[in-house]
Amino acid sequence: MTPDIRRSTLNDLDGITTMYRAAAASGGLARKPEEITATYVAGFLNQATQTGLSLLVMADGRVVGEIHGWPMPQSQFAHVFGDLTIAIHPQFQGQGLGRALFAALITEIESGLKHIRRVELGCRASNLRALALYHGLGFVVEGRLKNRIYDEAGFYEDDLVMGLLVR
Ligand SMILES: CC(C)(COP(=O)(O)OP(=O)(O)OC[C@H]1O[C@@H](n2cnc3c(N)ncnc32)[C@H](O)[C@@H]1OP(=O)(O)O)[C@@H](O)C(=O)NCCC(=O)NCCS
Repeated sequence: MTPDIRRSTLNDLDGITTMYRAAAASGGLARKPEEITATYVAGFLNQATQTGLSLLVMADGRVVGEIHGWPMPQSQFAHVFGDLTIAIHPQFQGQGLGRALFAALITEIESGLKHIRRVELGCRASNLRALALYHGLGFVVEGRLKNRIYDEAGFYEDDLVMGLLVR
C-alpha cells in the first residue's frame, strides 16, 4: 500500500508532539521524551513550514511519522538543507515508512528547492536502522565526532556527520 504522505500544517502540532514523544522513548532521537515540549515542536514546525519542509506520514487519521529540515540561513550555506530530523512511531517502525518519508522529502527538495545542493544530518553511531536508511538513500559518512553524545546509561558515543549531494 502507498504510504499516506502529506505536508504538515501548524494544526498538526498535537499529533506531531504525541508521535515524537513515543519515538523519543524508543531511542535514536537527540531528545528524551520529557524534552519533546510543545515549544520545541512548535519551533521546528514554524521554521520548517516557513523556510523549509515538514512532511507527515499518516495512518488511520493519525500522525505516525514526520521529517523536517530547512536551508541554512547564511548566504554561503543557503544551498545546504540541514537541521534534519526524522521520527516514525515505534509501532510503525521497520515497515518501510521511514524510507518512503525520506524519499518523499528528497523528491520535494529536488523538484521545489532548486537551490539546494546538499542535505546533511547527524546520527549516533549505534543507530543501525537509521544508518541503514541513510546509506540506502545515498548518504555517506563524512565525519565522526568522538564522544559527542552522552547516554544516560553511563557511556559516551560518537556522532556521525552524514551528507548527500542532490545536484
Ligand atoms: C530511524 C527511523 C526513522 C527509520 O524508519 P523506519 O520506518 O523504522 O525504517 P524503514 O522500515 O524505512 O527501514 C529503513 C532501512 O533500515 C533497514 N532496517 C530496518 N530495521 C533495521 C534494523 N533493526 N537494523 C538495521 N537495519 C534495519 C531496512 O532494511 C531499510 O533499509 P533499506 O532502506 O535499504 O531497505 C525510525 O526507526 C525511527 O523513527 N527511529 C527512532 C528515531 C530515530 O532514530 N530517528 C533518526 C535519528 S538520526
